Amino acid sequence: MSKNQSKLEGKAVEVLLSEEQIRARIAEMGTAITHDYAGKPLKLVGVLKGSFMFMADLARAIDLPLKVDFIGTSSYQGTKSSGVVRITSDLSRPIEGEHVLLVEDIVDTGLTMKYLLENLETRRPDSVKVCALLHKPSRTQVKVPIDYKGFEIPDAFVVGYGLDWDGRLRNLPYIGAVRR
Ligand code: IMP
Repeated sequence: MSKNQSKLEGKAVEVLLSEEQIRARIAEMGTAITHDYAGKPLKLVGVLKGSFMFMADLARAIDLPLKVDFIGTSSYQGTKSSGVVRITSDLSRPIEGEHVLLVEDIVDTGLTMKYLLENLETRRPDSVKVCALLHKPSRTQVKVPIDYKGFEIPDAFVVGYGLDWDGRLRNLPYIGAVRR
Protein backbone atom coordinates (compact mmCIF):
# COMPACT_ATOMS: atom_id res chain seq x y z
CA MET A 1 0.00 0.00 0.00
CA SER A 2 1.48 3.41 -1.03
CA LYS A 3 1.84 6.30 1.42
CA ASN A 4 -1.26 7.97 -0.07
CA GLN A 5 -3.39 4.96 0.70
CA SER A 6 -4.97 3.79 3.89
CA LYS A 7 -7.45 1.17 4.97
CA LEU A 8 -10.61 2.73 6.33
CA GLU A 9 -13.68 0.76 7.37
CA GLY A 10 -12.07 -2.19 5.61
CA LYS A 11 -11.75 -0.31 2.28
CA ALA A 12 -8.55 0.80 0.54
CA VAL A 13 -8.86 4.57 0.13
CA GLU A 14 -6.43 6.60 -1.97
CA VAL A 15 -6.11 10.37 -1.55
CA LEU A 16 -7.50 12.03 -4.67
CA LEU A 17 -7.75 15.65 -3.46
CA SER A 18 -5.90 16.84 -0.38
CA GLU A 19 -7.20 19.27 2.22
CA GLU A 20 -4.89 21.94 0.78
CA GLN A 21 -6.14 21.44 -2.78
CA ILE A 22 -9.76 21.62 -1.62
CA ARG A 23 -9.15 24.74 0.48
CA ALA A 24 -7.37 26.58 -2.36
CA ARG A 25 -10.07 25.77 -4.93
CA ILE A 26 -12.90 26.81 -2.62
CA ALA A 27 -11.18 30.16 -2.02
CA GLU A 28 -11.17 30.72 -5.81
CA MET A 29 -14.82 29.70 -6.13
CA GLY A 30 -15.78 32.02 -3.27
CA THR A 31 -14.05 34.94 -4.98
CA ALA A 32 -15.89 34.28 -8.25
CA ILE A 33 -19.28 33.97 -6.51
CA THR A 34 -18.60 37.15 -4.48
CA HIS A 35 -17.93 38.99 -7.72
CA ASP A 36 -20.95 37.61 -9.61
CA TYR A 37 -23.57 38.07 -6.87
CA ALA A 38 -22.59 41.51 -5.56
CA GLY A 39 -25.77 43.47 -4.85
CA LYS A 40 -28.10 40.48 -5.27
CA PRO A 41 -30.03 38.63 -2.55
CA LEU A 42 -28.10 35.33 -2.53
CA LYS A 43 -29.38 32.13 -0.98
CA LEU A 44 -27.12 29.10 -0.81
CA VAL A 45 -29.12 25.86 -0.91
CA GLY A 46 -27.03 22.91 0.19
CA VAL A 47 -27.99 19.47 -1.10
CA LEU A 48 -27.93 17.10 1.88
CA LYS A 49 -26.26 15.23 3.10
CA GLY A 50 -23.06 15.25 1.05
CA SER A 51 -22.66 19.02 0.75
CA PHE A 52 -22.56 19.87 4.46
CA MET A 53 -18.79 20.31 4.73
CA PHE A 54 -18.41 22.04 1.37
CA MET A 55 -21.30 24.36 2.26
CA ALA A 56 -19.65 25.41 5.52
CA ASP A 57 -16.35 26.24 3.84
CA LEU A 58 -17.87 27.83 0.72
CA ALA A 59 -20.16 30.12 2.76
CA ARG A 60 -17.11 31.44 4.62
CA ALA A 61 -15.26 32.04 1.34
CA ILE A 62 -18.06 34.32 0.03
CA ASP A 63 -17.73 37.91 1.13
CA LEU A 64 -21.40 38.92 0.77
CA PRO A 65 -24.53 38.93 2.90
CA LEU A 66 -26.28 35.63 2.19
CA LYS A 67 -28.90 33.22 3.45
CA VAL A 68 -28.55 29.46 3.80
CA ASP A 69 -31.05 26.65 3.45
CA PHE A 70 -30.84 22.90 2.80
CA ILE A 71 -32.71 20.37 0.75
CA GLY A 72 -32.33 16.62 1.27
CA THR A 73 -32.32 14.15 -1.61
CA SER A 74 -31.77 10.49 -1.91
CA SER A 75 -31.12 8.19 -4.86
CA TYR A 76 -28.17 6.09 -3.73
CA GLN A 77 -28.12 2.74 -2.00
CA GLY A 78 -24.54 1.79 -1.10
CA THR A 79 -22.44 2.76 -4.13
CA LYS A 80 -25.24 2.28 -6.71
CA SER A 81 -27.69 4.95 -7.87
CA SER A 82 -31.28 3.76 -7.89
CA GLY A 83 -31.93 6.38 -10.60
CA VAL A 84 -35.05 7.60 -8.78
CA VAL A 85 -34.53 10.94 -7.04
CA ARG A 86 -36.61 11.77 -3.96
CA ILE A 87 -36.74 14.87 -1.78
CA THR A 88 -36.23 13.58 1.75
CA SER A 89 -36.42 16.99 3.45
CA ASP A 90 -37.61 20.18 1.83
CA LEU A 91 -36.45 23.80 2.04
CA SER A 92 -37.52 25.58 5.21
CA ARG A 93 -38.68 28.74 3.39
CA PRO A 94 -39.92 29.92 -0.04
CA ILE A 95 -37.32 31.07 -2.57
CA GLU A 96 -39.56 33.34 -4.64
CA GLY A 97 -37.62 36.43 -5.76
CA GLU A 98 -34.26 35.13 -4.54
CA HIS A 99 -31.08 34.23 -6.37
CA VAL A 100 -30.52 30.58 -5.48
CA LEU A 101 -27.15 28.88 -5.74
CA LEU A 102 -27.49 25.10 -5.37
CA VAL A 103 -24.46 23.74 -3.55
CA GLU A 104 -23.79 20.09 -4.37
CA ASP A 105 -20.95 17.76 -3.41
CA ILE A 106 -20.80 15.90 -6.72
CA VAL A 107 -22.59 15.78 -10.06
CA ASP A 108 -22.36 12.19 -11.21
CA THR A 109 -25.14 11.07 -13.63
CA GLY A 110 -26.72 14.55 -13.37
CA LEU A 111 -30.13 13.08 -12.45
CA THR A 112 -30.27 14.67 -8.98
CA MET A 113 -29.34 18.10 -10.26
CA LYS A 114 -31.77 17.95 -13.18
CA TYR A 115 -34.58 17.00 -10.82
CA LEU A 116 -33.70 19.75 -8.35
CA LEU A 117 -33.37 22.44 -11.03
CA GLU A 118 -36.81 21.58 -12.43
CA ASN A 119 -38.34 21.41 -8.96
CA LEU A 120 -36.88 24.72 -7.73
CA GLU A 121 -37.77 26.59 -10.95
CA THR A 122 -41.47 26.00 -10.19
CA ARG A 123 -41.06 28.04 -6.98
CA ARG A 124 -40.36 31.29 -8.91
CA PRO A 125 -36.85 32.24 -7.78
CA ASP A 126 -35.16 35.12 -9.66
CA SER A 127 -32.41 32.69 -10.72
CA VAL A 128 -31.08 29.23 -9.96
CA LYS A 129 -27.44 28.31 -10.58
CA VAL A 130 -25.33 25.30 -9.68
CA CYS A 131 -22.11 25.10 -7.69
CA ALA A 132 -20.62 21.60 -7.51
CA LEU A 133 -17.34 20.68 -5.85
CA LEU A 134 -16.87 17.58 -8.03
CA HIS A 135 -18.00 16.47 -11.48
CA LYS A 136 -17.57 13.04 -13.08
CA PRO A 137 -18.04 13.87 -16.78
CA SER A 138 -17.61 10.24 -17.87
CA ARG A 139 -20.78 9.25 -15.97
CA THR A 140 -23.14 11.87 -17.44
CA GLN A 141 -26.66 10.61 -18.27
CA VAL A 142 -28.31 14.02 -18.44
CA LYS A 143 -26.43 17.25 -19.07
CA VAL A 144 -26.88 19.96 -16.46
CA PRO A 145 -25.23 23.37 -16.37
CA ILE A 146 -22.54 23.60 -13.67
CA ASP A 147 -21.91 27.30 -13.20
CA TYR A 148 -19.17 26.90 -10.58
CA LYS A 149 -17.18 23.67 -10.66
CA GLY A 150 -14.44 22.66 -8.22
CA PHE A 151 -12.79 19.67 -9.86
CA GLU A 152 -13.41 17.20 -12.66
CA ILE A 153 -12.57 13.70 -11.48
CA PRO A 154 -12.29 10.28 -13.13
CA ASP A 155 -14.92 7.57 -12.68
CA ALA A 156 -14.03 6.40 -9.18
CA PHE A 157 -16.29 6.12 -6.14
CA VAL A 158 -15.16 8.93 -3.86
CA VAL A 159 -15.55 9.46 -0.13
CA GLY A 160 -14.70 12.06 2.47
CA TYR A 161 -15.24 15.79 2.87
CA GLY A 162 -18.96 15.08 3.27
CA LEU A 163 -19.27 12.27 0.71
CA ASP A 164 -20.17 8.85 2.02
CA TRP A 165 -19.88 5.21 1.24
CA ASP A 166 -23.12 3.71 2.56
CA GLY A 167 -23.32 6.38 5.28
CA ARG A 168 -19.70 6.11 6.30
CA LEU A 169 -16.42 8.03 5.84
CA ARG A 170 -18.06 11.47 5.50
CA ASN A 171 -15.72 12.90 8.12
CA LEU A 172 -12.46 12.35 6.25
CA PRO A 173 -10.93 15.83 5.77
CA TYR A 174 -9.77 14.97 2.23
CA ILE A 175 -11.43 13.34 -0.80
CA GLY A 176 -10.40 9.77 -1.36
CA ALA A 177 -11.11 7.21 -4.07
CA VAL A 178 -12.37 3.82 -2.90
CA ARG A 179 -10.96 0.79 -4.65
CA ARG A 180 -13.95 -1.11 -6.02
P1 IMP B 1 -26.27 11.95 -9.55
O1 IMP B 1 -27.74 12.12 -9.38
O2 IMP B 1 -25.94 10.62 -10.16
O3 IMP B 1 -25.59 13.10 -10.27
O4 IMP B 1 -25.64 11.83 -8.13
C1 IMP B 1 -25.65 12.83 -7.23
C2 IMP B 1 -25.51 12.31 -5.83
O5 IMP B 1 -25.03 10.97 -5.76
C3 IMP B 1 -24.49 13.13 -5.09
O6 IMP B 1 -25.11 14.19 -4.45
C4 IMP B 1 -23.90 12.16 -4.11
O7 IMP B 1 -24.63 12.17 -2.92
C5 IMP B 1 -24.06 10.80 -4.75
N1 IMP B 1 -22.79 10.34 -5.36
C6 IMP B 1 -22.51 10.26 -6.67
N2 IMP B 1 -21.26 9.81 -6.87
C7 IMP B 1 -20.75 9.59 -5.64
C8 IMP B 1 -19.46 9.13 -5.17
O8 IMP B 1 -18.52 8.83 -5.92
N3 IMP B 1 -19.32 9.06 -3.81
C9 IMP B 1 -20.31 9.38 -2.94
N4 IMP B 1 -21.50 9.83 -3.34
C10 IMP B 1 -21.72 9.93 -4.67
